[in-house]
Amino acid sequence: MKTFYVTTPIYYVNDVPHIGHAYCTVGADAMARFKRMDGYEVYFLTGTDEHGQKIEKTAKEQGITPIELADRVVSRFQEAWKKLGISHNDFVRTTQERHKRLCVEFFKVVQAAGYIYKGEYEGWYCLPDEKFLLDSEVVDAKCPDCGRPVERIKEQNYFLKMSAFQRNLEDLLAAHPEFVQPDSRRNELINNFVKPGLADVSITRNSVKWGIAAPVPEDVVLYVWFDALLNYITALDWPNGEKYRKFWKGEGTEKHEVVNLIGKDILRFHATIWPSMLWAAGEPLPDRVFGTGYINKDGKKMSKSLGNVVDPFELVEKYGPDALRYYLLREIPFGLDGNYTDASFELRFNGDLANDLGNLVHRSLSMLEKYHQAVVPKCGPEGPLEAELKAIGTSYSGKARQAMLTFDFPTTLGAAWDLVKRANKYVEESAPWKVAKAGDQAQLDTIMYSLMESLRVTAISLAPFMPFTASALWAQLGFSDDVHTHPLTDTEKWGLIPAGQKTAKGLPLFPRIEKVK
Ligand code: MSP
Repeated sequence: MKTFYVTTPIYYVNDVPHIGHAYCTVGADAMARFKRMDGYEVYFLTGTDEHGQKIEKTAKEQGITPIELADRVVSRFQEAWKKLGISHNDFVRTTQERHKRLCVEFFKVVQAAGYIYKGEYEGWYCLPDEKFLLDSEVVDAKCPDCGRPVERIKEQNYFLKMSAFQRNLEDLLAAHPEFVQPDSRRNELINNFVKPGLADVSITRNSVKWGIAAPVPEDVVLYVWFDALLNYITALDWPNGEKYRKFWKGEGTEKHEVVNLIGKDILRFHATIWPSMLWAAGEPLPDRVFGTGYINKDGKKMSKSLGNVVDPFELVEKYGPDALRYYLLREIPFGLDGNYTDASFELRFNGDLANDLGNLVHRSLSMLEKYHQAVVPKCGPEGPLEAELKAIGTSYSGKARQAMLTFDFPTTLGAAWDLVKRANKYVEESAPWKVAKAGDQAQLDTIMYSLMESLRVTAISLAPFMPFTASALWAQLGFSDDVHTHPLTDTEKWGLIPAGQKTAKGLPLFPRIEKVK
């Protein structure tokens, strides 16, 4: 048994889902689906981060209680993920009893281990980021990361002795550089946060009411990040649950991997506080923390005040979930910042989806109707052109596995498109209309069979990335089972579409679009 555990950040419920959330979640979903197809037992977790001062404040502004706000926004997230075909195994909410109980338990374990002490905190706090800042980081009372004003707080708090893990972290990053990916983010982290030395972090708040009560005599709540980071293991029933043992610890598996997928802005928490918490509790660390870049709009940071926030659901309504999924995964290298523009969306849609993929499917199935009454023929003799198609199709999985090791979605999709493009060229080169006119039935059978087989391999290749399209294409090819149950290794074989199968051409998958917006 091989297991793979992938998580997204849990999203704050003070805001409705936007394209940045969709980006990380779609990436995690594509990875989860890919690994499932590649023989792993996968656990994919997403959820919402519902405590803290920020949520408390937003709820107050809206004249509702924090839990009312959370309930309202959570349903927006759940609806959003459904629309986008997100295949998570669980959705954790930090206000759930199961989570709260285990956070308290975790605090006690770390306290018993001697890594929690009581002290006074005086310093800067960035409310929008729910983050403590060092005096040296704050210039003009502004947060160095988000630029918004910070507040000065002075509190009696409980601290996590993070400084005790300085050496552990240095050793980890030296021995396992892959712990923080991509590389550029690791260097940033080492220079900005590890080298200057890890400072102990306050893990309780007494000026905040909306949180998990800490197991201490005072009436204080857990710091929202202490609570939030634990979602990755409370959802697996840490410390003894079967899921925790299997997916986090890899007990009884021949291979297992744990990846926390996050945005670059929260890498610092995941690469310093999170490992320290786990070390303090004597628990194993995730294998990788992967920080994605930010999506900007027309080169500018998206923000409500600029009014340039891209609504992913408007795009989904107009162009379908898979067009957005494809765009996000294909256009922006996963570790780098990316730029959403209407023009690049339109280009990807009309070029890759309408011209390349949609066209190939539609014209191949139309020709099969015309020349073979929509019945897949038995393949006739094959020549060099067919050998080339076959070589491209059957080598997809190897390239994809390699690229997916580093969340390289553009390369993976590029490899799937190699076959789509080659098959389109094959139609031109083999000119089935001429072959039909000349009455060369055996040659015509070969061409049509090779095209159907290319489409079969394409449908399976696309399944993790464009799940709806893969299903639609699968049905058009006349299969009655579910494409998502097919293993990746089915793309390594050529000749699996059965002769005699009746196809069912549908409407074009991606009709060309006019200008976006
Ligand atoms: N609640 C914390 C995460 C806790 S994880 C234990 C949080 N939530 S968030 O809703 O503010 O942000 C969640 C993620 O969305 C972050 O990883 C952030 O990087 C990502 N994004 C927010 N805006 C984004 C873009 N414009 N582009 C890409 N990702 C962005 O932080």
